[in-house]
Amino acid sequence: MLGLIFGLCASSGCSNAQSMALKKIFIVYLSRTNNTKAIAEIIQRNVGRTLVALELEKPYPENYQQTVQQVVKENETSYLPPLKTKIDSIQNYDVVFVGFPTWDMKMPPPMKSFLHQYDLSNKTVIPFNTNAGYGVGSGFQTVKELCPDSKVLEGFCITGGVERDGVYFVIKDEKAKEAETEVKKWLQKIKVRE
Ligand SMILES: Cc1cc2nc3c(=O)[nH]c(=O)nc-3n(C[C@H](O)[C@H](O)[C@H](O)COP(=O)(O)O)c2cc1C
Repeated sequence: MLGLIFGLCASSGCSNAQSMALKKIFIVYLSRTNNTKAIAEIIQRNVGRTLVALELEKPYPENYQQTVQQVVKENETSYLPPLKTKIDSIQNYDVVFVGFPTWDMKMPPPMKSFLHQYDLSNKTVIPFNTNAGYGVGSGFQTVKELCPDSKVLEGFCITGGVERDGVYFVIKDEKAKEAETEVKKWLQKIKVRE
């Protein structure tokens, strides 16, 4: 049936965005202070579909400096923290949005756990990120490295909180509206939305 829809779509000259609308979209994200969560929810509002937050078997400390120290060690030893979140239907999805904050100028270890644990081969993978203003670092490159058999599209990056300085959730009010405009532009550019 789906093949028929895609076939009809191709013969009637549907745009990529329209054919993307027929695909099954999954959004997975990691968020500690809700900025990446806010972007994930904007994406969900604009493309719909399933939204899942990654949770750990053993959460990071509440203390920021302790968390930084733990993350640095985990990166040094390539430790993959076990996930509490279990996803049993990833094979049913064609497109997977993958959202994470920058930690230590890298992809956070829990998102590495997710990409190691779940096979996204032959799927379209679309990364997004929030950070304290220093950018995504090596995060999007790591998505490509951990998804060698996926089609990885251009990622979206926006400034979020600065937990180090006590600035936590910022993607609200005016900033949320600006973020929504930016996200929509990006979704159009990568042809996930008309
Ligand atoms: C452990 C840790 C390390 C971080 N390292 C960086 C970093 O290297 N560069 C950066 O720009 N922001 C860094 N940040 C800030 C977060 O990327 C930023 O606050 C982000 O918006 C948080 O997203 P969240 O609210 O979804 O958790 C770090 C935050 C934490 C908790």
